[in-house]
Amino acid sequence: MRHTPINNKLFKNNRKRFVDLLPKNSVAIFQSNDQFPRNGDQFFPFRQQSDFFYLSGIDQEKSILLLAPDCSNKKLKEAIFLLVTNERIATYDGHKYTKKEAGKISGIENAYWVDDFELSLREVLVNADQVFFNSNEYVKSFNEVPDRNIRFINDFKEKYPLYKLERAAPLMAQLRTIKSGLEVELLKKACDITRKGFERVMRFTKPGVHEFEIQAEIDHEFTINRANGHGYAPILASGTNALVLHYIENNAVCNDGDLLLMDFGAEYANYSADMSRTIPVNGKFTARQKECYNAVLRTFKAARALLVPGNTAKKISEEAWRMMEAEMIKLGLFTVDDVKNQDKEKPLHKKYFPHGTSHYLGLDVHDVGSYDEPIKPGMVFTCEPGLYIPEENIAIRIENDILVTENGPVDLMENIPIEADDIESIMSDR
Ligand code: GLY
Ligand code: MN
Ligand code: MN
Repeated sequence: MRHTPINNKLFKNNRKRFVDLLPKNSVAIFQSNDQFPRNGDQFFPFRQQSDFFYLSGIDQEKSILLLAPDCSNKKLKEAIFLLVTNERIATYDGHKYTKKEAGKISGIENAYWVDDFELSLREVLVNADQVFFNSNEYVKSFNEVPDRNIRFINDFKEKYPLYKLERAAPLMAQLRTIKSGLEVELLKKACDITRKGFERVMRFTKPGVHEFEIQAEIDHEFTINRANGHGYAPILASGTNALVLHYIENNAVCNDGDLLLMDFGAEYANYSADMSRTIPVNGKFTARQKECYNAVLRTFKAARALLVPGNTAKKISEEAWRMMEAEMIKLGLFTVDDVKNQDKEKPLHKKYFPHGTSHYLGLDVHDVGSYDEPIKPGMVFTCEPGLYIPEENIAIRIENDILVTENGPVDLMENIPIEADDIESIMSDR
């Protein structure tokens, strides 16, 4: 594990909160993520299934978590089943968890080898009234490949057709949206590593460097600070590349006079930060670039203030579009009359600011949670208005990660330079 050990109270408490939501005589089964095949005998780097990690802290493939709180056998009320290791695996792939290690990380007293799972399952099923299974219900996830949870569900249905199946995903979303203190600490760490990456980049960027060289600086800073890597593919987009919202090629040369839009976030202990900053490649904004930058920054600050209990992410996005529309009029992109006459289905501001302003953040960069649900203390959202003007080769996005509290929004990235003057001043010191 690259990160420093996590207090297993986090996972114990998560399991308790989950089990408290279950009806009587329930069984719940969570599968770890697959190792995703690359080519030949290679796999992509392993990333744990987020719900599985949330409930167990176990960061290893081919593991199963079994929760059966009302089972009469104490040894099966909560149990973790682990990949059976052997000499060959130890020699080629290295160390895998012992039962003792898995118990220490997860706080689960009953650790078994995965070979014991089937028999244990049969035992907990005897008095089960329903069985909860996990699945990825993220609306925009179109997985073509059935994951371990789905394969297990299909297998289960065939073997045990008479049981009532239930969805764990809505319960997991309900739990994961509210971050505990320990989770906030991990997110803060991810944000802090991201800050270091950005500070390094501000010192490094100048006309003539490639976007991938800037990425390499970030990779270095993330790794030496114990991040797993990036929480998502980083965007290092100079000039017109930044007009492509999901640009991830990062191959172009950064040119004098252009802006560089960066969207990157460190993943620490599987928790992801998500930050966007826009800087002038040569260290000095033009008057027009600064005017546009400050328009986005004003909207960012106003939208951030709206991340309070009772509001919704949907309403905040709508409000940010309205604010940016007013800024766009001031910037001369269109007039008040143009807005009056616009096609309501295709508002003019959508051309220059096509995306939403806030999404949930946590173990996943686009974390689970409903966008209609009223915002509650403990939720963490991004705030990320943008302005993209193809006619002027200007693309700006500013994004911080915000914790909602009873006492107002807490910006987890408040110490990351954001004012245009501060960015220029730091870049002038290169
Ligand atoms: N980095 C992905 C996003 O900002 O939503
Ligand atoms: Mn984001
Ligand atoms: Mn982002």
